[in-house]
Amino acid sequence: MTISSCDSAAGAEAELVDRFREYYLATDHEAVRELERRTLGVAYGGNGYTDVHQAERLVSLLGLGEGDRVLELGSGAGWPGLYIAQESGAMVVLSDVPWEGVSWGRRHARAEGLPADAVACLGAEIPFKDRSFDGVTHSDVLC
Ligand SMILES: C[S@@+](CC[C@H](N)C(=O)[O-])C[C@H]1O[C@@H](n2cnc3c(N)ncnc32)[C@H](O)[C@@H]1O
Repeated sequence: MTISSCDSAAGAEAELVDRFREYYLATDHEAVRELERRTLGVAYGGNGYTDVHQAERLVSLLGLGEGDRVLELGSGAGWPGLYIAQESGAMVVLSDVPWEGVSWGRRHARAEGLPADAVACLGAEIPFKDRSFDGVTHSDVLC
């Protein structure tokens, strides 16, 4: 798995990124994982409202399988992108601006043997050609 990095965010986006960076640095604790399990049903470092039932619905709607590639925009630590990879067999590319989020996702993917790549990048600057993916997902990003 590789991680590439794009230009950093500026202005209002930079403030947003700093806020999320602090979150990813401060919440990699078992107590937070337990809270996630109790509220979302699983623990992937999620920091939105998407629960495991909604993630299952995404897996079903996307209809992905082995050999497919899915891009997750604003993945944070990889929820629900890593879950989609695990359940479908597709390879996921996690993308978010704070390095701290996607690198957490990378560690998780390595530990679980999940097919994943990661890029630290604004959604508008994603460095992939058209038709590089079989599906694109984002959860709780426009907030
Ligand atoms: C509430 S978090 C949700 C993260 C993850 N999807 C989850 O459910 O745990 C929103 C994420 O969107 C990212 N984000 C916001 N604007 C973005 C942009 N323009 N490009 C890429 N990521 C962005 C933030 O950095 C943050 O990690």
